[in-house]
Amino acid sequence: KPIVLSGCQPSGQLSIGNYIGALRQWVKMQDTHDCKFMLVDQHAITVRQEAEKLQQATLDGLALYLACGLDPAKSTVFIQSHVPEHSQLAWVLNCYTQMGELNRMTQFKDKSQRHASNINAGLFTYPALMAADILLYQANEVPVGDDQKQHLEMTRNVAERFNNLYGDIFTIPEPMIPKVGARVMSLQEPTKKMSKSDDNPNNFVGLLEEPKKILKKIKKAVTDSDEQARIYFNQEEKPGVSNLLSIMSAATGKSIDELVPEYEDKMYGHLKVDVAESVVAMLEPIQQRYHEMRNDQAFLQQVMKQGADKAREASAKTLSDVYKAVGFVPYP
Ligand code: TYM
Repeated sequence: KPIVLSGCQPSGQLSIGNYIGALRQWVKMQDTHDCKFMLVDQHAITVRQEAEKLQQATLDGLALYLACGLDPAKSTVFIQSHVPEHSQLAWVLNCYTQMGELNRMTQFKDKSQRHASNINAGLFTYPALMAADILLYQANEVPVGDDQKQHLEMTRNVAERFNNLYGDIFTIPEPMIPKVGARVMSLQEPTKKMSKSDDNPNNFVGLLEEPKKILKKIKKAVTDSDEQARIYFNQEEKPGVSNLLSIMSAATGKSIDELVPEYEDKMYGHLKVDVAESVVAMLEPIQQRYHEMRNDQAFLQQVMKQGADKAREASAKTLSDVYKAVGFVPYP
């Protein structure tokens, strides 16, 4: 089976962007692929987090993974910091990643603007840790949203560079980006992507939000970028409306071409109510299962432990091959 690896940062409540862009794809791959899915708490601390909140968000994220349909009997589900091999490989890859290539990462540029008082070295070398996450398992496919494309490209370059020096150590991974919903946009600023860690909570919908709140946020979403109150799909002319149509398409499974004619003579308000309802319907079963999972501490503990053990086992060989390749003396 091809190997799949992906993860989300527990830097806030997972959003419909994470679900539509990534998680939903993961669930479908479990029968046909050897899947590893993690919560990347080590990535999350590249931005300052409150300890208690990070811990809760990680456990919430784990319960949400399971509620969305990740099955620990089929997939390896774990927390990044429980598998020390990630940071061990990340160190080596840091030494094979150029400052110049890290400097080109748009996420670093964005985040260092947003967190100008804490532009730490980890934020800068974050893509090397992400490369380690992926290469450690010899992943063939990495299902992610559009915003991770550049990090994936860098991962491939680092892997190729390493292989050219030392032989075929790493599998070169392919990004898997969905056709619909690869870039869910912010509700208030529809020209930037929806982010779970946005300062303005009206910009995103969390997977655990109540139906009433979802309706309120979507009703408030920015739609007007011109004077024409017509509903059609065009991301340049109508970023807000197009984003709502994309969200509804992802939530209902109907294509944009099917949806648009349904709104020919309708108003924005009408569209928004329908979008909100489709999102609520998509989230309802997830929210229901979530509450069962989150309260079962013993089960979560067991999933984490089993996942970390499996992940460590799966990653040991690559790390030892890498250590040997670069010239580290084997532990006696
Ligand atoms: P993160 O936590 O920002 O997002 C998790 C996943 O959700 C996708 N995503 C979106 N998709 C569509 N629209 C959006 N608005 C949206 N926002 C987020 C992301 O593309 C991602 O797939 N660096 C990664 C985490 C990571 C990782 C990895 C991923 C660390 N190591 C190894 C894959 C493989 C990140 O910050 O994702």
